[in-house]
Amino acid sequence: MMTMNDEQKPKLEVYRSQFPGLKNKAYFNYGGQGVMPQQALNAIATSHADLQEIGPYSESRNHWVAGECYRTRKAIAAELGVAPETIAFTENTTGGCNIALWGLDWQPGDHLLMTDSEHPGVIAAVAEIQRRFKIEVSICPLIPTLNQGDVVELILQYLQPNTRLLVISHILWNTGQLVPLDRIMQLCHNVNQQPEHRGFKNKIKVLVDAAQSVGVLPLNLADIGVDFYSFTGHKWWGGPGGVGGLYIHPDTQNYLHPTFIGWRGLLFDPAENPVGWKPDARKFELATSAYPLYTGLREAIAIHHQWGNAQERYQQILKLSGYLWQKLTEIPGIICLRHTAPESGLVSFQIESSRLTSKITEESISKSLERQKIIIRTIPQPHCFRACVHYFTLESEIEQLVAGVEAIVS
Ligand SMILES: Cc1ncc(COP(=O)(O)O)c(C=O)c1O
Repeated sequence: MMTMNDEQKPKLEVYRSQFPGLKNKAYFNYGGQGVMPQQALNAIATSHADLQEIGPYSESRNHWVAGECYRTRKAIAAELGVAPETIAFTENTTGGCNIALWGLDWQPGDHLLMTDSEHPGVIAAVAEIQRRFKIEVSICPLIPTLNQGDVVELILQYLQPNTRLLVISHILWNTGQLVPLDRIMQLCHNVNQQPEHRGFKNKIKVLVDAAQSVGVLPLNLADIGVDFYSFTGHKWWGGPGGVGGLYIHPDTQNYLHPTFIGWRGLLFDPAENPVGWKPDARKFELATSAYPLYTGLREAIAIHHQWGNAQERYQQILKLSGYLWQKLTEIPGIICLRHTAPESGLVSFQIESSRLTSKITEESISKSLERQKIIIRTIPQPHCFRACVHYFTLESEIEQLVAGVEAIVS
């Protein structure tokens, strides 16, 4: 892959003009939904038109679908640093988490460890699995480790000999904390080999919610050895809503069983008779999808490479989130949850309670900012505002947000 040096980089304003969603606002909700480049919108429309032309259902159409799946899987896999056959298409992050959660053969008394910062849909799925299979669930409190302490040591304290699965986000959606995934994987995969951890008979599998890390971090998952990594295209990649994926480590694929089952997971002989499962992550795919969205996601991923490689983009995200964090810390009455510059594009902050009244609440503040075309969101736990910056965020947008916040608290 070729990356551009500074002189070749398109001027930021020109680059940003490819994203219609950036035109009329200062946008800070990339962790909720990213902005789609016009090229991705066009590619989706073109794919729909092409499908009508060659199908909608025909041999040529089937060939086209197979090609789109192949090319998009390959593009996603390259971003994650893994082989294409380890990726199953899903609709979203939560869908991929559900494939991993429900696919383990849970036995009564098994233990699942989850952090205190997981997303509501994942928490709800775990609660239902706990009810149905009578497993034990405990919560590892990561929120207090945002500014101090060692996440890996804390997780170790919460692991039990009967722990089968750790559920953890790579970047916590509430505080923006980046967890040391490589060390967590070493802990969970080697816990049964350490004499001091007697009682652990098996490796512990790890399911990572990557909703906030894919499109932000440079990734090389093959090196880290993670078991399950569930992500979506519609947030930091700026793809269309409705396409995500689940990475399943090759050694873990046989350990997991499909829960929802459909023709896409099956192998067929030349006479179109099913002859078994597909031998890789595709086994977990179901049936017909909105394939033109795959084209759109691939186009969205490709656009980011115009600006720079994954490392350069992440460094720029850090530079800009550090700038926002610094500016916010200078405002009396604003408390940034982090005491040091962010490790991600998420900047979470609170307004001192003395500055809030029954009329001026966090919700009313975020609505008032939205009326000024400054888009951020509130987070329920810990109760705070969350502003996301991307690598193409303008310093002037950050200054606009800071001025808007300052006007509210002064
Ligand atoms: C950590 C995390 N997990 C899951 C989700 C849900 O994402 P999706 O709609 O892709 O399932 C989000 C955000 O919405 C999130 O931040």
